[in-house]
Amino acid sequence: MNPSVIPVTLLFADGVSHRLQVPCGGKLVEAATAAGLNLLTDCSNGQCGTCTAQLVSGAVEMEDYDPAVLPDEDRASGTVLPCVCRVHSPCAIELPYDASEAMSEEPAPIEAAVTAVEQVATEVVRLEVQVPEAVAFEPGQYVRIQPAGADFHRSYSMANVPGTDRLQFFVRVVEGGAFSTWLAGARPGDKVALSTPHGTFFLRDEDRPRLFVAGGTGVAPFLSMMRSMADRPPAQRTTVVIGARTPGHLFAMDELRSLGERLAGVDLQVVVEQDARDGCHQGYPTDLIPRLGLDPATRVYLCGPPPMVEAGRKAAEAAGLRRADVLCERFA
Ligand SMILES: Cc1cc2nc3c(=O)[nH]c(=O)nc-3n(C[C@H](O)[C@H](O)[C@H](O)COP(=O)(O)OP(=O)(O)OC[C@H]3O[C@@H](n4cnc5c(N)ncnc54)[C@H](O)[C@@H]3O)c2cc1C
Ligand code: FES
Repeated sequence: MNPSVIPVTLLFADGVSHRLQVPCGGKLVEAATAAGLNLLTDCSNGQCGTCTAQLVSGAVEMEDYDPAVLPDEDRASGTVLPCVCRVHSPCAIELPYDASEAMSEEPAPIEAAVTAVEQVATEVVRLEVQVPEAVAFEPGQYVRIQPAGADFHRSYSMANVPGTDRLQFFVRVVEGGAFSTWLAGARPGDKVALSTPHGTFFLRDEDRPRLFVAGGTGVAPFLSMMRSMADRPPAQRTTVVIGARTPGHLFAMDELRSLGERLAGVDLQVVVEQDARDGCHQGYPTDLIPRLGLDPATRVYLCGPPPMVEAGRKAAEAAGLRRADVLCERFA
């Protein structure tokens, strides 16, 4: 055996495994790409958690990452961020998606045109784009959007239901952000390129109670999920907690309230950090988790800023829910 090449076994969710030969000290994702496997990544620098995987044997070294995305206790129990992993000794890593997703070539981008840009709340813009034909995705997934001529792309979750040629996104505008700056000048007709949909944060079709917790524009994937649930009403209770900085930061509330009334078993709660009124709670959305009396079989979906997602995970565990039942999407 060549000691400067280290064997790494990748175990995919569909049971398929791949053995990589990684140069000692080399980057896991680069070695996988060289072997024809595109591991799921987004930020590629340990800030978003999109690549989260589980080390099942051996060890890896991790470069800098955001501890809100991978807390120390998770790291101690073997959770890793492949995008920042370097390999020095043999190991095996479990990935939460099928091998076919990693093996397929990244398809050509989808050419889309902006059809609407509209401020819908404080610091929140609704972006709508038209694609040549309906894009298939699971409610909760996201695409990467690259404005024409730009050298960057950012990820945004679809808020619409699958099966239409208009995709809708809700973008939090951040001062000095590259996409935010582009969005400020975007007009109908402007061209963007979209990746195919990605992500493991999607609505599971299962007969158990659900808890959705959203912070800020983290509402977007839940809009897609709830709009889809209108076609397949859930048999069990769904609790939806929407959090925002102030009432002025809330958006799509009329539709959420109407979905909450139309869908049997949906309980909608709204929490704002400041100026609570009209039946809103004051505080953080995750403050409500201990008070909900959750069934231990509940599937939890958390989406929003990384610190909110982390607080939600801790609160769900403290409420007796299993870590494996908590799905997270971090808008980093
Ligand atoms: C899977 C996924 C799905 C997502 N879905 C959504 C969604 O539906 N809606 C949504 O609003 N967001 C979503 N996000 C977040 C989104 O992708 C972007 O990260 C976010 O919109 C910021 O992009 P930006 O280009 O405007 O800001 P960026 O350019 O990424 O900048 C972010 C911040 O860093 C600061 N900054 C940038 N460069 C520098 C520098 N050189 N020095 C100091 N500070 C700097 C900026 O001022 C800004 O405050 C998602 C993220 C992920 C990973
Ligand atoms: S892709 Fe690994 S943390 Fe973002």
